[in-house]
Amino acid sequence: MITYINGSPKLNNSASNKFLNDIKSAEDKIQYIYMNNYEDIIDNIINSYTIVLSFPLYADSPTSGVLDFLEYIKNNTIDLSDKNLYYIVNCGFYEPQQNNTAIDIVRCFCENNKINFKGGLSIGAGPIIGIRDSKLIYRILTKSYDNKINEFKEKIQNNKNVDMNITLSLNKRLYVYAANISWKNTIRQANKK
Ligand SMILES: Cc1cc2nc3c(=O)[nH]c(=O)nc-3n(C[C@H](O)[C@H](O)[C@H](O)COP(=O)(O)O)c2cc1C
Repeated sequence: MITYINGSPKLNNSASNKFLNDIKSAEDKIQYIYMNNYEDIIDNIINSYTIVLSFPLYADSPTSGVLDFLEYIKNNTIDLSDKNLYYIVNCGFYEPQQNNTAIDIVRCFCENNKINFKGGLSIGAGPIIGIRDSKLIYRILTKSYDNKINEFKEKIQNNKNVDMNITLSLNKRLYVYAANISWKNTIRQANKK
């Protein structure tokens, strides 16, 4: 069994949730760090062989909820030794490398708690990749996503180590230009309310 954990405060409206939905089967449930009891999530983990932890990058780090959850496991000496852990981390910046510090935090947690760190998927331009199903232009700009997410899913099912990353098939300058237009529109809309 695999436990799928979403560490985004946006719950099922998040990009983190979309990535989990794309790798799990219909009957698998997602556990939410910002909604479910830690005890419930841990019960699921204990009955699983593998954990997939999906979260956004907040200030170069996993969210405070994810950090709190990892601290809880450590402080309560919950034995998760020999479980496999895969991460999916997504950030707003174009470059997936922005996620590296957060990935190191998860790796250190695994090493300190004898969990098998199996690697994962590092995603840049997460806000666009997370809504790629909503517009054809987003699907075109993220055309490598389908192959990568399927490859990632296959690796998890076969307990293989993985180190993958993905971003838009779009020049970085254009991404920044489009992101600036989008921010300004969002602010204008918010001011109207
Ligand atoms: C409080 C906050 C801090 C953030 N910090 C970063 C950051 O340091 N680097 C970055 O690239 N994106 C940052 N972002 C953008 C999120 O990582 C990005 O919007 C992500 O797609 C959200 O994922 P989610 O929908 O799964 O929550 C931040 C967003 C928020 C709200």
